[in-house]
Amino acid sequence: MIVTQHPLDLLITRLPKAELHLHIEGSLEPEMMFDLAKRNGVALPYADVDAVRAAYQFDSLQSFLDLYYAGASVLITEQDFYDLTWAYLLRAKADNIVHTEIFYDPQTHTARGIEFAVPLAGIHRALADGHQQLGISSKLIMCFLRHLSEVDGFATLEQAMPYLAQIDGVGLDSSEFGHPPSKFERLFARCAELGLLAVAHAGEEGPASYIWEALDLLKSKRIDHGVRCTEDAELVKRLAAERMPLTVCPLSNLKLCVVKDLADHNLRELLAAGLCAMVNSDDPAYFGGYLNTNLLACRAALDLTQAEIVQLILNSFEASWLSSAQKMYWQAEVGQIVSELRS
Ligand code: ADE
Ligand code: ZN
Repeated sequence: MIVTQHPLDLLITRLPKAELHLHIEGSLEPEMMFDLAKRNGVALPYADVDAVRAAYQFDSLQSFLDLYYAGASVLITEQDFYDLTWAYLLRAKADNIVHTEIFYDPQTHTARGIEFAVPLAGIHRALADGHQQLGISSKLIMCFLRHLSEVDGFATLEQAMPYLAQIDGVGLDSSEFGHPPSKFERLFARCAELGLLAVAHAGEEGPASYIWEALDLLKSKRIDHGVRCTEDAELVKRLAAERMPLTVCPLSNLKLCVVKDLADHNLRELLAAGLCAMVNSDDPAYFGGYLNTNLLACRAALDLTQAEIVQLILNSFEASWLSSAQKMYWQAEVGQIVSELRS
């Protein structure tokens, strides 16, 4: 059987890209989960890798998070976190990602008795090697788990104090329903005083009002997911006027039943409204694919045009925390490759 590639798929794979919404713990592939479980003597409730994959059937964010936190239990040593991050960086390189801003969840690990410094050291070392050996620049975002208390969040920030030079920003993730951004207003105000940039998951499963709160109370510089913004016309107007980035994760939305079908995703609508949306992979080991797989799936399901694909990728650089000069450099590279492919 001859399978012909859609002409835009070549463009997707060839263009340099930034990824801005990636939980490093969500890049733990079942094979590595088993290897680390063996290395660390951790028992897993699965017979083999196929059984792990078969368990990845989710009906909500919470049903995913339960497995995701359980999977993270195999991560114990600094080397484990290094290996996890390095494996992601190799996949990022294969997808032509030149800049990545990754999340990690320290509380998932400190709650299991892992020292705060351990995950950070492994992740940071791999990111430094990724820059040196693979040419991938990066930022690191420490997320607070919103199902935990404000007090727990402040305790985590206290533990992070000696390491702030290695942390570029803070985020807010985990179970959205019942844990509005307002719960963390004081914590994020303190982070801002410390010079940390803020982002927050909002409007993934939760209502559009959580997006308003993330903007007004947390001073979030980007909204992670944000797809429910289209339920509020005033909010869409504001997001467009401010060019507030939305780090959209289409295969995640599909796997977690935020949308029934990828063809129903509002990604095109977001672009048409003038929003700074781009595509990301969120937790690629759990949701069926890394960045290019997300872009290719959206191209096919939504019949994205070349202009829309290029816009998504330009937006990924615009929304990044790269310097203006670096943004301009990569956006010019995108333009150059688009014109080369055209001729
Ligand atoms: N943690 C990891 N992935 C997440 C997601 N999609 N939403 C909220 N918290 C998360
Ligand atoms: Zn996420």
